[in-house]
Parts: sequence; C-alpha cells; structure tokens
Amino acid sequence: MLQTSAIRGRILSFTAEPAGYGDRSSYDYWADGLVRIEDGRIVAVGAADRLLPTLPPATPVDHYPDDLVLPGLIDCHIHLPQTQVVASYGTQLLEWLQRYTFVEEQKFADPGHAATVARFFLDELLRNGTTTAAIFGSVHPASVEALFSESERRGTAMIAGKVMMDRHAPPTLTDTATTAYDDSKALIERWHGRGRQRYAVTPRFAITSTEAQLEAAGALLRAYPGIHLQTHLAENHDEIATVRRLFPDDASYTAVYQRFGLLSPRSLLGHCIHLAEDELRLLADSDAVAVFCPTSNLFMGSGLFDHARINDPGRPIRIALATDIGGGTSYSLLRTAGEGYKVQQLQGRSWTALSAFHQMTRGNARALGLDDEIGTVSTGRYGDLVVLDARSTAAMAHRLDASEGELDEELFVLMTLGDDRAVRATYVQGRCAHRRA
Ligand code: GUN
Ligand code: ZN
Repeated sequence: MLQTSAIRGRILSFTAEPAGYGDRSSYDYWADGLVRIEDGRIVAVGAADRLLPTLPPATPVDHYPDDLVLPGLIDCHIHLPQTQVVASYGTQLLEWLQRYTFVEEQKFADPGHAATVARFFLDELLRNGTTTAAIFGSVHPASVEALFSESERRGTAMIAGKVMMDRHAPPTLTDTATTAYDDSKALIERWHGRGRQRYAVTPRFAITSTEAQLEAAGALLRAYPGIHLQTHLAENHDEIATVRRLFPDDASYTAVYQRFGLLSPRSLLGHCIHLAEDELRLLADSDAVAVFCPTSNLFMGSGLFDHARINDPGRPIRIALATDIGGGTSYSLLRTAGEGYKVQQLQGRSWTALSAFHQMTRGNARALGLDDEIGTVSTGRYGDLVVLDARSTAAMAHRLDASEGELDEELFVLMTLGDDRAVRATYVQGRCAHRRA
C-alpha cells in the first residue's frame, strides 16, 4: 500500500543559481504550500488550496504556517571520527592532525565506539537539518560499516569512504596500498548503490599516501565508474610545502592528484585555498568540485577561500559548501553559510542569502551529482526536507520585528543568527526524523 503524507508551510525551492540580490526568477515559493510524499518520494508540490482537496482521505498533514520548508541541507565534507576533535585548542593543520586528530581517530579501531559515534553523528546532522553528507571515515573499514548501517536504518542518503593513509601517521592508523585497495573494494561492493548509500574513495591527502596508494585510489575509480573521490587540497602553507618536498617532480599539488587520475566531475576537493592559476585550470578542465569549508578555514587559520577567483567566468570551477567537522566548528550549515559570508566580506565582497541557501540545497546536490534525487522540493525527488523557524531565538524574533517581510532578509537573518535552534523539524523520505523539543 502507498504510504502518503504531506507537509504544509512556506515552501522554498531553487530552480537556478541566483544572479544577484532578490533574483525572483531563481526559485519557486509558495506562501501557503503543500508537498505530498508517497513511499519516500515527492509526488506533488504547489499551493495548499489546490493540492489539499486531492489528498486521499485521512492523509496526515504536518502544518507549519509560519515556517519555511526547504529541501534537506547537504554537507559536502565532514569527518565522522572527529566529533570529539571539534574545539581543540591552538594549532594549525599539521600539528592539529598529530596532536588531536590522529589520537582520536585511533579509537575507531573499536567497532563499538564507531557504532556509538555513528549514531550520535547522524542524530546531530538531522538535528541541524542536514539530510545528506559526504563523509570521511577513519582508516578502519568498521567506521564506514557503522555509518552506512546507521544511515540505512534511517533511510538517509550518505556518501562515505574509509580513509586511505599509508604513511606519515601513527602505525596504528596506517594501512597499505594493497589493504586500502582491498578494504575499499569490499566496502564498495557491499555498500555502493545499496539503497541510498554511496561510496567515495578517500585518500586523506597527498602527504599521507604513497604513490602506490594514490595509484590504488585511481585504480578503484577506474574499476567502479560512478563512485566519488574525496580528499583535501591546498588548505595550509606548510601542507603545500610538504607536498612539494614529497612529490618534487610534479608541477603542483593539484598535478599530483591529476597524475593518479583522481580529478573528475565526481571529485570533491576540500579547501582549495592556496592554488596557482595552472592548478585552477586543472580543476576547471576536469570539472572537479572545490569544497568551501569556512568555519574550518577560520578556526585553523588556514586562509580565505576566494569564491570570485574560483568562480572566474573565464574558467569556472564548481563549488560546494561544507562544515568540515572537526576542523570546522559547527554542524549547522546555517552557521557555516554565515561564516562563509564573513570570509567573503574579508575579501571585500558579500554573498546574498539567496545564493547561500541555493548552495546549501540545490547547489550542493549538483556538486554531488545527486540533483535528480535531492536538493529541490520537486516531483520525483526524495521527501528529505527541513522546516526552519526564523524566529527561533529572542534575538532573531526581535530583529525580524524590524523587517518588511522580505524573503531575502529572513534568509539572511537565518544564516547570520540561526543554528540548530532554527530547525523546527527534519524529514527523511517524508517521515519526521527530528522534531525540536
Ligand atoms: N587534511 C588532511 N586531513 C585533514 C583533516 O582531517 N581535516 C582537515 N581540515 N584537513 C585535513
Ligand atoms: Zn576535512
């Protein structure tokens, strides 16, 4: 029997990249809208007065008269084993990895710990309105096993991979080129395309993989077309200098990844802060994705992601937005967008709320190549939705009391002042997966 449900509220869904402030042609908006979901997928969206009479009798309708109903938010770079690394004091990338991150990631040798953290992690994503993420596991295959099992149980769509690293890390955290290949292959065959789970080949970054291991990563991508690749690129000056020392014959950091066949439209490259023009050209030519992680870049003092340069119309590079927990400091994509705005302000530009919300939803779905499944409130997409309350704190309500009621302004308040408290509810395949207390 068809499971039918409906959600009623102020529905907002983007149809195109907004061209500028107030670009009304970039989105659909129903001030009193209804979305109907059957067996997990959206089958109708439109004005409530038109759609309500078409619902089968006794269809449950969750009504949010004042709230915005958007597609579930999407996080394009986050680390499962770093939920207890967040807020670690006083270091930049390479020292942070050694002093905090590699210590914490060793605990994932225990599958019980991995399972406990996987539950916390998905609870926290859903509490923040995030329904899909691209996730780094630890080096242990069991970390990804735990994550996918928990995601499957909840019906969420996740992309994840076991980290590959065979050097410059503690011996208890290293694999080899061969075991990384075999373990990744086994996870791909078990999980990739099973329900809504997808695999990403995940060499941590060039510093922690030998040439043999990067070769193995490329071989996996060739053997399994359609899987993603995720890694880090050009986040920190000491990192870049180390890569130059380790790969003296390559023209650049980006060229290392290119040599091993790791750049394609399914490649998600975290950070991309300090890149030379020839490297940007390699990214543009391969249609790879540069993933902007503002809270992480500010917290670790890594540098300022240059949106305008990355997005240069002469050779545009695809962009995604992400939290990068635990280098990043918030699970909330609202907070992340708010910090992203400040990163742009530090470079003399700004970022419209329409563009930021487009990025968190349709933009990130396109970056992941999943826009036929998620990222918009439209027929055929999954019923993954977030319900946002822009008056969730006294400060936000007070601020909006002085507003003329413009949608752009409400969205800007949400991304500047909002966080998990603004998430009234999160739906996965039409079922409520989180409701604010
Ligand atoms: N570069 C290599 N590993 C990591 C990581 O875990 N976090 C961040 N932010 N950068 C990295
Ligand atoms: Zn990262």
